[in-house]
Amino acid sequence: MADEVRSLEEATRDAVAEAMRRALPAELADADPLIRRSDHADFQANAAMSLAKRAGAKPRDLAGSIATALGETSPDLGVELAGPGFLNLSVTDETVWSQVAARLSADRLGVGTPQLGQRTVVEYSSPNIAKEMHVGHLRTTIIGDALARLLEYLGAEVIRQNHLGDWGTQFGMLIQYLDEHPDAKWRAEDLEEGDLGTASALDGLYKLARAEFDADAEFADRARRRVVTLQAGDEATLSVWRELVAESEKSFQAIYDYLGVSLSAENSAGESTYNPYLGEVAAEVESSGVGVISDGALCVFFEGINGPDGSPVPLIVRKSDGGYGYAVTDLATIRYRVRDLKVNRILYVVDARQSLHFRMIFDTARRLGWLTDDVEATHVPFGTVLGSDGRPFKTRAGGTVRLVELLDEAVERARAEIETKPHTLSPEELETVARQAGIGAVKYADLSTSRTKDYTFDTDRMVSFSGNTGVYLQYAHTRVRSILRKLPGGEPTEFPVNTGGALHPSERALALLADEFAATLTEVATTLEPHRLCGYLFSLSKAFTEFYEACPVLTAESDEVRANRVALCQLTAVTLGQGLGLLGIETPERM
Ligand code: ARG
Repeated sequence: MADEVRSLEEATRDAVAEAMRRALPAELADADPLIRRSDHADFQANAAMSLAKRAGAKPRDLAGSIATALGETSPDLGVELAGPGFLNLSVTDETVWSQVAARLSADRLGVGTPQLGQRTVVEYSSPNIAKEMHVGHLRTTIIGDALARLLEYLGAEVIRQNHLGDWGTQFGMLIQYLDEHPDAKWRAEDLEEGDLGTASALDGLYKLARAEFDADAEFADRARRRVVTLQAGDEATLSVWRELVAESEKSFQAIYDYLGVSLSAENSAGESTYNPYLGEVAAEVESSGVGVISDGALCVFFEGINGPDGSPVPLIVRKSDGGYGYAVTDLATIRYRVRDLKVNRILYVVDARQSLHFRMIFDTARRLGWLTDDVEATHVPFGTVLGSDGRPFKTRAGGTVRLVELLDEAVERARAEIETKPHTLSPEELETVARQAGIGAVKYADLSTSRTKDYTFDTDRMVSFSGNTGVYLQYAHTRVRSILRKLPGGEPTEFPVNTGGALHPSERALALLADEFAATLTEVATTLEPHRLCGYLFSLSKAFTEFYEACPVLTAESDEVRANRVALCQLTAVTLGQGLGLLGIETPERM
């Protein structure tokens, strides 16, 4: 907290607020000054426009009185009355340079910790055991990781939860199959493929077991009985189950490491975690009267949630055969997170198609009194990844796309793209940079589209050096870094800013934009929309390019001018690096 730097926008808002308190009648004096960035000045205040009616005055007259008061309270602020009643506001050159200096000398660029005290579960990834991670797990993993990093950076205590699908009827089938086919190969070391191929062995087992299940009714019966044995806690069955889970988790971890995603074993809290509590959860749903028995099943009904035929759609807490499923597990999960983890915010980064499920879970948990008003539970939905045909992404044969293959391809394309340019990377460096660029490209393409929209997975476009891509931003970062490296005498560790120096319009634009970093992060923390940070970083890169074209750094006309421009380069580099880092995107030093 100590080192938080107030932004120029906030300082301007404070200044106008003070003037308003002087100039306006008491009942309007505390209104929001409505400060925005402006095309005609640095900022504009729109308050007079919205208050005029209540004040019984013309907006322009009202704006005029605020302007007069501003002249007294903030003589440094340039004020101009514009249009029907806007105030155009400009800060001085000196204020801009002082702000650059303040950000550079502050810890973390003066970004504060507005999320302090927020204990937040971010639930993401949550793949299903014994199946390979596929393209459907890409978005939850990437978006969830970016949100977790960002909230943590802003001071939240983030508890990552990987709600693995590790419990369910498929295990009866798998375990029974293994029992009857002791020679089945399903472990990574059974296959020749490398580390990341591990789940494909398991995936193969899944397909074989499934085929037998579908073809042989007697096997299917034995498999079903095996589920009951598993759920009853039979030790021999559990021990095979544990092996399956461990083998799967190894393959997931390999993908997380490859992706640079901050999930590890300690974040795993799969569905099985809640198995011991399902009975008591159902009992409470029933005894509280929140649930009712309908056709033998324990159901919760909701106002306004009906099927296409108008009949109510229930949340099934206990099936008529006494079995427990996905829904009751989520009830136990929410209870655990509120009661035991004691969080005040829970974010579920899950496919938009599960919206109804979460509406029902949250509503039920509120009716049960488990989810209280001081706890926010939010489904953070996202759209589908599409193939070039505009349909959900599939292999040519119509199967699910293995995530590893997708990532490998992106890294390959990124390597090819980097090799089309003259570079001085050694083969090992090229290897590293290609991975950083390829993975960064996939993440950025995902994060930069509005979260709830579908997007088309297009590897060629995502690894391009031009346009709004991760590679473009990484490259912009390397360009700034290379300027700093080329400084005579090496890169300085101190950047003495000459606050009396002249200020070119492109320097002003860059400095003001860099100053918006903290506000952008706060906005993402509230809206949970990482594409806003992507858009911001893209604008910052473009502002840097315009600055660099207009204002030579290395060949600046004087040492003072150069020092100031170096400071701007440094501010840009750190902001870009930090911003990309929060998106989970690495920043190579050269590429
Ligand atoms: N394992 C599920 C799937 O792959 C996602 C889990 C979502 N989280 C939850 N709490 N229900 O579809």
